[in-house]
Amino acid sequence: MSQNFDEIIDRSGTNSVKWDAREQLFGSATALPMWVADMDFKNSDQIRKALHELIDDQILGYALPSDSLFESIILWQKERHQMNINKENILFSPGVVGAIAVCVQALTSPHDGVLIHDPVYTPFSSVVQSNNRRIYRTPLIIENGQYKMDYDHIEKSFKEHSIKMFILSNPHNPGGRVWSKEELIQLIDLCIQYEVILISDEIHSDLTYTDSTIYSPISLKEEYKNWVVTLHSASKTFNLAGVKLAFYIVCNDELKGKIETVQHETEQNSISTFGMVATEAAFSKSIEWHKELMEYLEENRNLVIEFFDKELPEVFYMKPESTYLFWFDASSLHIEGDKLTETFIQKGDIALNAGIAYGNSSQQFMRLNFACPRSVLKEGLQRVKKVFDSVKN
Ligand SMILES: Cc1ncc(COP(=O)(O)O)c(C=O)c1O
Repeated sequence: MSQNFDEIIDRSGTNSVKWDAREQLFGSATALPMWVADMDFKNSDQIRKALHELIDDQILGYALPSDSLFESIILWQKERHQMNINKENILFSPGVVGAIAVCVQALTSPHDGVLIHDPVYTPFSSVVQSNNRRIYRTPLIIENGQYKMDYDHIEKSFKEHSIKMFILSNPHNPGGRVWSKEELIQLIDLCIQYEVILISDEIHSDLTYTDSTIYSPISLKEEYKNWVVTLHSASKTFNLAGVKLAFYIVCNDELKGKIETVQHETEQNSISTFGMVATEAAFSKSIEWHKELMEYLEENRNLVIEFFDKELPEVFYMKPESTYLFWFDASSLHIEGDKLTETFIQKGDIALNAGIAYGNSSQQFMRLNFACPRSVLKEGLQRVKKVFDSVKN
């Protein structure tokens, strides 16, 4: 491996949200941070080099997206996600959540219904609500240890609440589920039947493990391009959340026009030069780094699973098919959902995300981020065990 993912980098005191907001958010400045989806690995040498060159050679004024940036995105999506898109299908945004907000404003009207899963990534609901639309949730069902969609409930919701948009986490955060081709087809066909726009948030899609295959809806059937807006970013996979660049893939001209209108109205059409340079270096030059990252993360995932199987056999968890997030059920602690984070801090000094933030159905779950050096992960797992042991003793 050319990249040393075992290297421990001290991020405290660098204004890292993951490390420096511990005291404020968790009440412990020493807690081991295994929460927000941000990796403790150095960026690829290629990204670092590209950013150095930018600073050395250029003036940092307003910048246009270069043809080579578009090409890097088009090629990446073609090779990784079998997508056939062109430059005209791509729009930029500072972030995926910001892009969801724009889609909500552009493609729905005030008080329209928007459907999301329960549980799912927290900002899906807050963004819809802060834009004055009605949020509805459809429960995910646990079957054979993984989340499955309840299509009857989805159809009932479409009918009863005149839903105009479905926001999908593809793959699923926090459960790590990679939706199969058949599951996606069933969902999109329902969306088309009820004239519902599907927002497919694919920010984690390049973090899929070797035992799963990820599909992007617009690669499945040509007609889906009329109903789906895909959102993507290099930020999770290449650890670039701070440089703020994401993109929409929108093939339907009418939808694209509406999105562009809101982008103009909200002055959201100017983007970060650092984001553009880093994204291009990620997609076009960091292929080997990505391959090595995935090997490392897969070993980390397997280590977490082995640990839970051996040390905490009573704890139910979902094997992540994608993402570096591990979703487990802490109900054997017999603690209220809103007290779980505090308990993990008090008994184990470990900062995790509480399931209650993702939906009512996951009040007893916790989310652990395993994108860290293996020695840190091992320490984190011991701390989790300490929390469960504290209840047994
Ligand atoms: C499903 C999902 N979408 C979006 C984001 C955040 O995207 P951004 O930082 O580009 O707004 C995250 C971050 O963890 C996420 O998990």
